[in-house]
Amino acid sequence: MSTKKIIKNGTIVTATDTYKADILIEEDKVKAIGKDLSDVYAEVIDATGQYVFPGGIDPHTHMEMPFGGTVTKDDFESGTIAAAHGGTTTIIDFCLTEKGKSLRSALETWHSKSDGRAVIDYGFHLQIVEANEEVLEEIPVVIEEEGVTSFKVFMAYKNVLQADDETLFQTLTTAREHGGLVMVHAENGDVIEYLTKEALKQGNTEPIYHALTRPPELEGEATGRAAKLTALADSQLYVVHVTCKEAVEQIAEARSKGFRVFGETCPQYLVLDQSHMEKPDFEGAKYVWSPPLRDKSNQEVLWNALKSGQLQTVGSDHCSFDFDGQKDLGRDDFTKIPNGGPFVEDRFSVLFSEGVKKGRISINQFVDMISTQAAKLFGLFPQKGTIAPGSDADIVLFDPNVERTISVSTHHMAVDYNALEGMKITGQPVSVLSRGEFVVKDKKFVGNPGTGKFLKRAKFNDRTIVKREEATANR
Ligand code: URP
Ligand code: ZN
Ligand code: ZN
Repeated sequence: MSTKKIIKNGTIVTATDTYKADILIEEDKVKAIGKDLSDVYAEVIDATGQYVFPGGIDPHTHMEMPFGGTVTKDDFESGTIAAAHGGTTTIIDFCLTEKGKSLRSALETWHSKSDGRAVIDYGFHLQIVEANEEVLEEIPVVIEEEGVTSFKVFMAYKNVLQADDETLFQTLTTAREHGGLVMVHAENGDVIEYLTKEALKQGNTEPIYHALTRPPELEGEATGRAAKLTALADSQLYVVHVTCKEAVEQIAEARSKGFRVFGETCPQYLVLDQSHMEKPDFEGAKYVWSPPLRDKSNQEVLWNALKSGQLQTVGSDHCSFDFDGQKDLGRDDFTKIPNGGPFVEDRFSVLFSEGVKKGRISINQFVDMISTQAAKLFGLFPQKGTIAPGSDADIVLFDPNVERTISVSTHHMAVDYNALEGMKITGQPVSVLSRGEFVVKDKKFVGNPGTGKFLKRAKFNDRTIVKREEATANR
């Protein structure tokens, strides 16, 4: 196998530039970019008619995660194979912790799930469920020694994953001191618990009640609370899976005051709405995740927030469960439907098709949202998130014109349905390289489980963050 490759005739697209040039790859890195590059020892890859993108970075996945009385269907092998087919070359997965156990033991569990399985590179965020003395002392240790620099606090899922405000605040202050980034699932879990019990008391058991007991006000309230605690702690916050106007407004307000508050949305909230949860014959369960799908008017709010830079990234929140045997645990009670949906494979192409092709965002903004901003926020830039000399050769050769229909019959995720079934999109990754080696070649998987490496990430550094608000204003 040649350790050198030259990608010729493609159009390179980064978060800032679009231009035609060749890329010389040597071993796992981009060695040079220029016109008419040649090297007799290099394998030549023809990218005529294709965009050459940096590999996607998905900052939000849940592989082989115990949740809702079952375990997510995709593990680090099937999930990363699907990710690679979809143009993603790095995932950052959520490592769950248990009260009373060390953070390090949780990381060991997650390493044992991923070691020898992943086909693309990966990192971990670490859940903080209880900020006791031992945990607060361990946070700087995992930042320095384990390269785990982001910490997730769930403000919902009462009696399961939820942490209290004291834990959130102490995590924020500790992260500020040691260079961590705190992430929140922002919904008011206490009020949701009350509304859920009331719904069940009244015999309301269908999937749609999942949405009706988690209204957008409760996401807005929790987002605002987390943002205010972040300001008080002078810390940094990343709000995962933002779904609605109420939450976007809170993030925008915090940012307008100069606070380090960032936000992510997901493809499902950009293209699906709450009416999917009303499908008959329990089909609505396929669309049960948290926060829930919203009224359609929120889609435009989210697109505008991405475009204007109020939200920075698009994660998949890939949390896959089969319809048969997993989602149907909640056939008689919506609270027993495992929360989550399968999106790791389609995140990249859906954002390209619905965003770039439909003129909602520029192609450079697309790269920024799908890759660069996640690399910057989570301490991977410039190793990942761009195409530049010295960066990892994580590269997607993308056909921007092929028309196709998303379907369970062609996807590579391990689940028995696709929540975007039948959606017509334009564009598809053709070949994908992870650190200079093909993992997908001509749409076929050619990688090997175990070649994906665990990434130790750098501390949070505000100076590397591109301010898309400013970039947009100057464009
Ligand atoms: O329903 C969801 N989103 N499941 C995954 C866990 C989470 O809240 O991100
Ligand atoms: Zn969540
Ligand atoms: Zn999630």
